[in-house]
Amino acid sequence: MASSKALLGAIFIASFYFPASIAFPAHHEGAHPVGHSPKPKLGLSPDFYISTCPQADEIVVSVLKKAIAKEQRIAASLLRLLFHDCFVQGCDASVLLDDSKADASEKNAIPNKNSLRGFEVIDEIKAALEEACPHTVSCADTVALAARGSTVLSGGPYWELPLGRRDSKTAYMKLANKNLPPPNATLHRLIKFFERQGLDKVDLVALSGSHTIGMARCVSFKQRLYNQHRDNKPDMTLEKRFYYTLASVCPRTGGDNNISPLDFVSPSKFDNSYYKLILEGKGLLNSDQVLWTGKDQKIADLVRSYAENESLFFEHYVNSIIKMGNRNPLLGHDGEIRKNCRRVNQVL
Ligand code: HEM
Ligand SMILES: *[C@@H]1O[C@H](CO)[C@@H](O)[C@H](O)[C@H]1NC(C)=O
Ligand SMILES: *[C@@H]1O[C@H](CO)[C@@H](O)[C@H](O)[C@H]1NC(C)=O
Repeated sequence: MASSKALLGAIFIASFYFPASIAFPAHHEGAHPVGHSPKPKLGLSPDFYISTCPQADEIVVSVLKKAIAKEQRIAASLLRLLFHDCFVQGCDASVLLDDSKADASEKNAIPNKNSLRGFEVIDEIKAALEEACPHTVSCADTVALAARGSTVLSGGPYWELPLGRRDSKTAYMKLANKNLPPPNATLHRLIKFFERQGLDKVDLVALSGSHTIGMARCVSFKQRLYNQHRDNKPDMTLEKRFYYTLASVCPRTGGDNNISPLDFVSPSKFDNSYYKLILEGKGLLNSDQVLWTGKDQKIADLVRSYAENESLFFEHYVNSIIKMGNRNPLLGHDGEIRKNCRRVNQVL
C-alpha cells in the first residue's frame, strides 16, 4: 500500500514538473533546475545561459561596438557602472532603477548624480537581449557583460565572466552615498572602502587601473588645484606642467562640469599608462595619486610593478574584477529578472 502511494505521488510530481519545464523553458531552471538534477546550481557560472541564451554575449558586444563607434568614452562609462552597482548591496542592478514612488534612485546619490552614464546603452542591450531571449538575461548580468565587453573592446584583458545574477527589487540610495569612495579620499580611507566590500589592497590598486580609460569632471579634482589641505594651496604632489594644464581646464570658480581624461596619454585605450602617469605625479584624482604618495609600501610597490609590467596588471585586474563582480549576487528565487532595467516588474 505504502509503496503504491509513493508511486502515485511520484507520478503526480512528475506530471506536475515535466509539463511545467516544457511550458516555461530553461530560464526558470537556471539557478534551480527542477526535478531530476542531482545537484542544484547555486552559484554563478560562466555557462549560466549556455542553453537559454547562448548568443547573449554576442548580442551585448554587437550593441557595444556600435555605441563605442559613436562615442569612445561610453566604454569607460559602462565599466564604471559595474563598480557603482557592485559596491552598493552587491551586483544586482540596483543602480539602474529610476526614481519611483517606492524608492529613491541611486542615480541621484552624490557620487552618481550628473556623473554616471551609459544607461541608454544598457537599455539598448537589454532590449536586444529581451528580443532574442525573453525574460532570461538579468539586468545585473547585462551590466557585467557590458563592463567586460567594454574592457575588451578598449584593448584590455578578457575574463571568463561568472553569470546568473538576478535583479534587486529595490534601490539603495543611502548606501550609494555611504559605500562609494569619494575622489578626495585618503589612502587609508580607500583601503577601508574596499575592505568593506571584501576587497584587499591588490584589488584596490588593480581596479583603480580602470581609470586608464574615461574622463572626470573638474569638480572631482578641483580641490587638488586650489585648496588641497584647506590652505588655499595646490596638492604639492601634482607635477607642475600637469597642474597648469588642469588649471586651464578647471578654473578656481565655475567650470565644474568641464572634463579631463583620467589617463591623458591614452584615454580610450585600456593599458597600463595610468600607472606610469602616477609615477610621474600625473594621476588626475587624489585617489589615483595617493596610491603612490600615500606611504603604503605594499601599494606603492604594486603601482610600480603594474607600470613596469602590463601583463601583471591585466592578470591581477582580471582576478579583482571577477571578485568584485561576484559580490553578494541575488541567486535562485531571490530578486527577479527585470524586463525593463529602469523599473521592477509589475506584479499582475
Ligand atoms: C578607488 C576608488 C575610486 C574612486 C575614488 C573613483 C572615483 C571616480 C571619479 C570621481 C570619477 C569621475 C566622475 C566624474 O567626475 O563625473 C571616476 C571615473 C571613472 N571610474 Fe572611478 N573611482 C574609483 C574606483 C573605480 C573602479 C573600481 C572602477 C571600475 C572597476 C572605476 C571606473 C571608472 C571609470 C571607467 C571612470 C570613467 C567614467 C567615464 O568616463 O564616464 N573607478 N571614478
Ligand atoms: C572631500 O570633499 C568633501 C566635499 O567637498 C569635503 O566635505 C571633505 O572634507 C573633503 N575631504 C578631504 C579629506 O579633503
Ligand atoms: C610580468 O608579469 C607576468 C604575469 O605575471 C609574468 O609572467 C612575467 O614574468 C612578468 N615579466 C617580467 C619582466 O617580470
